[in-house]
Amino acid sequence: MLNYSNNPIGIFDSGIGGLTVARAVTQVLPQENILYFGDTARAPWGDKSTAAIQAYCIQICNMLLQQNCKVILIACNTASAAAYELVREYVGNKALVVNVIDPMVDHLREHYVKKSIGLIGTKQTVHSNIYKKKLDALDVGIRINALATPLLVPLIEEGFADKEITANALHDYLAHPDLKNIEALVLGCTHYPLIKHHVEDFYQNKVNVLDSSEIVALALKGLLEYHNLKNKNGASQRRFYVSDFTEASAAATKIFFGEAVQLVLYHL
Ligand code: DGL
Repeated sequence: MLNYSNNPIGIFDSGIGGLTVARAVTQVLPQENILYFGDTARAPWGDKSTAAIQAYCIQICNMLLQQNCKVILIACNTASAAAYELVREYVGNKALVVNVIDPMVDHLREHYVKKSIGLIGTKQTVHSNIYKKKLDALDVGIRINALATPLLVPLIEEGFADKEITANALHDYLAHPDLKNIEALVLGCTHYPLIKHHVEDFYQNKVNVLDSSEIVALALKGLLEYHNLKNKNGASQRRFYVSDFTEASAAATKIFFGEAVQLVLYHL
């Protein structure tokens, strides 16, 4: 295709949490055209079945492919765990497919060989055991213990990220015996960068807190360079679609993206 490198990067999530990843992408790759889709009508996905999440992902990929996205970035741990392989097979050579788990696994391999790591995420991500499977396959002695922390997404979405109730829930989770004696904690959900400060307070800098958004954006940059797909045109265009529009999600974009963005309703 003639202007292939000018085509947008498609980024999707169950809702607006993936805007933390979109934000990192715009910071690392400011010249890229971005098309974001948040499936707000069906969010959250964290407690849904694998089959349901896979079906949603394929529907969203169809939309992103129709819009000629050169890359599809699954900006959601839950969806990356449940549907990455399927999405990659489905998309084939029509676009590059990136998830938010593999770049973090690469980062752990580089920096935490023979170390113990903790992870928090949704039930779907944690029960999939995806991080453990990928790390075990590398066979570099990284031990990972994961804990599902399902109360955190609703608290963050309600705008309670900075409130004591969130710090209390988080501290209760982090005190769990499974997360003892770790060198680093992976924030395995795209909402969690918003509560990174509470996690850091809890560990008082004795444990590294790993947020995947920048790691993923840098991996994406490397991939675009490798495939010679970086946008060479100056001006970038950013579009943000959602499957259900509410004033609350429109207002929350500021929290997740750092600035308010205009959400456009799009029915799949
Ligand atoms: N964005 C999802 C993730 O990273 C969590 C939100 C949801 O449950 O839909 O896992």
